[in-house]
Amino acid sequence: MPAYQSPALNVMVAAARKAARPLSRDFNELENLQISMKGPADFVTSADKRTESILIEELSRTRPGYGFLGEEGGAVEGKDKTHRFIIDPIDGTTNFMHGIPQFAISIALEREGQLVSGVIYNPITDELFTAEKGHGAYYNNKRLRVAARKELGSAVIATGLPFMGKAGHARAGAEMAAVMNVTAGIRRFGAASLDLAYVAAGRFDGFWERGLSAWDIAAGVVLVREAGGVVTDLNGGTEMLANGTVLTANENLHPQLLKLLKGVNASAKVEAANEP
Ligand code: 2AM
Ligand code: CA
Repeated sequence: MPAYQSPALNVMVAAARKAARPLSRDFNELENLQISMKGPADFVTSADKRTESILIEELSRTRPGYGFLGEEGGAVEGKDKTHRFIIDPIDGTTNFMHGIPQFAISIALEREGQLVSGVIYNPITDELFTAEKGHGAYYNNKRLRVAARKELGSAVIATGLPFMGKAGHARAGAEMAAVMNVTAGIRRFGAASLDLAYVAAGRFDGFWERGLSAWDIAAGVVLVREAGGVVTDLNGGTEMLANGTVLTANENLHPQLLKLLKGVNASAKVEAANEP
């Protein structure tokens, strides 16, 4: 347990753990479903919906009136206009569907428009990441701190890539080429919330991605900030939730990565691709 954990964070952790139990059972079931004609897509959709319902039910029971922003249910205004939970029931859905245990339940709490608490929980590895504004970031019982590396040459940087049907393939290729040229390696794990949590934990030295939604990012932003990291959008501003882009690293590497990625996007190659 962190030295201090607010009642609100307790409620968020309890909700994540409760929703995680049936979700873990579903994950284990998936192995049998891979062979069915229809494939696991419908099954995953219903697991996603049920997980979100459990989260909303649990959170509303103890925090009635708070609003919600969720991947399945969208924005729901509460009576209490100052508080809102931002939730992703399964972040890393593609991994979940493929039996890859790299996915998480992500819950953030926003107070008066500010992100104040975050919970990211991987039900399969039982890894719990929590953070509260002003009270630090934690992995299970351990206080987290971003990695201290100052040189890109020794840094491992995570990213996310657009898939079939999404724009931005050429840009992602150009950005990766630039980053792989100057770093110790790139990783693509497929769950943005966990990528952010891994930066907070010092496992990754940095992470960037485009095309995300508020619920992919919100809890991770609190984690990284409380672990002493810098998190911005890819313009260097703080509109991550609004524009769906994110760049995070420690205070030494963040400016280097921002400059590098901005440089790529200023190049004629990406402009010619005419992609967002
Ligand atoms: P999801 O699994 O909840 O959809 C992978 O690069 C990351 O991008 C995941 O965190 C994934 O979250 C997120 N993502 C955001 N929008 C997506 C979309 N339309 N399709 C797939 N992944 C998306
Ligand atoms: Ca997500």
